[in-house]
Amino acid sequence: MGGMSNKIWDIGIVPVITNITSMEECASLAEALKAGGIPIMEVTFRMERAEEYIRYLRENYPEILVGAGTVLTLGQAETAVAAGAQFLVSPGLNKEVVRYGNAVGVEMLPGIATPSELEQAMELGVTCVKFFPAEQAGGVKAIKAMGGPYKNVGFVPTGGIGLTNLADYFACENVVACGGTYMLGKHLERHEWDEISALCKKSVQLMLGLQLSHVGVCLAENEDAEAVACQAASLLQLEIQKSKADSYFVDTGLEIVQHTAYGGKGFIAYSTPCLERTVRYLNAVGSRFRRGSEKRDKSGRLKSICFEQEIAGLAVQLVQR
Ligand code: 3PG
Repeated sequence: MGGMSNKIWDIGIVPVITNITSMEECASLAEALKAGGIPIMEVTFRMERAEEYIRYLRENYPEILVGAGTVLTLGQAETAVAAGAQFLVSPGLNKEVVRYGNAVGVEMLPGIATPSELEQAMELGVTCVKFFPAEQAGGVKAIKAMGGPYKNVGFVPTGGIGLTNLADYFACENVVACGGTYMLGKHLERHEWDEISALCKKSVQLMLGLQLSHVGVCLAENEDAEAVACQAASLLQLEIQKSKADSYFVDTGLEIVQHTAYGGKGFIAYSTPCLERTVRYLNAVGSRFRRGSEKRDKSGRLKSICFEQEIAGLAVQLVQR
């Protein structure tokens, strides 16, 4: 994956901007997306002033990734790059535009909808594509199927994505990010900036899919974890499951641990369907993780990690679901 598609991956959701009509709207939208936790904008050349918006955003919002969308011609690609676009996106595969992006070192995500188009993009060195129009071209099933033969390609599905299918797309391992206009909709015209931020936040929640997994109670070395677990189990009429030498699970929600490296009193563990993505996103928006707290399985896949910050003396752990 290229450096820029890695940054797009970190954020995970790409708002596609198709209908802003003034610089004031452009600024308010940038603020709303930032407040909603999605600091990235694909400014499409469907708008007459796309070039100006890109330049303005690059000059005033260095914390936002700014790309140009609907780049259909070489001329538009040149204009976008001159205005400061950090990546280029198109609905289809225009080889001239991809070659130009390669030549000037600005990553281009061409749109593809079939394996043959994907192979043509790969021939040009593309490692991350826009899958467009995602829903109409087979949606999640098509992306999963393409993940078989094309293992090292990242997909950014766009077209028909919304809150109801976002999590299904993120469940595909080869999805780098999801794009769309759904978080803007009519809210943009009506200047409902708080509503846009709320939709962004909801999208991030769906992407991360965090759920409370279990609570850990940490005991001092002279306390008996088994005895405490028995007390809790009999109080709640639950079964004990011994998981490791120093830890007892009461059913699945409560873990009694003899001692732990993190969290004097204990910890709260949240699970996520894709820990790697969750950590990437949280890092990108400024969360910090405790050095050395990550645990990996035999294949090197991240299994758990702790935030640097504790909550009321409790460590907060993220675990792969
Ligand atoms: C695009 O250009 O990427 C699409 O118009 C976005 O599709 P959507 O409006 O269905 O999200």
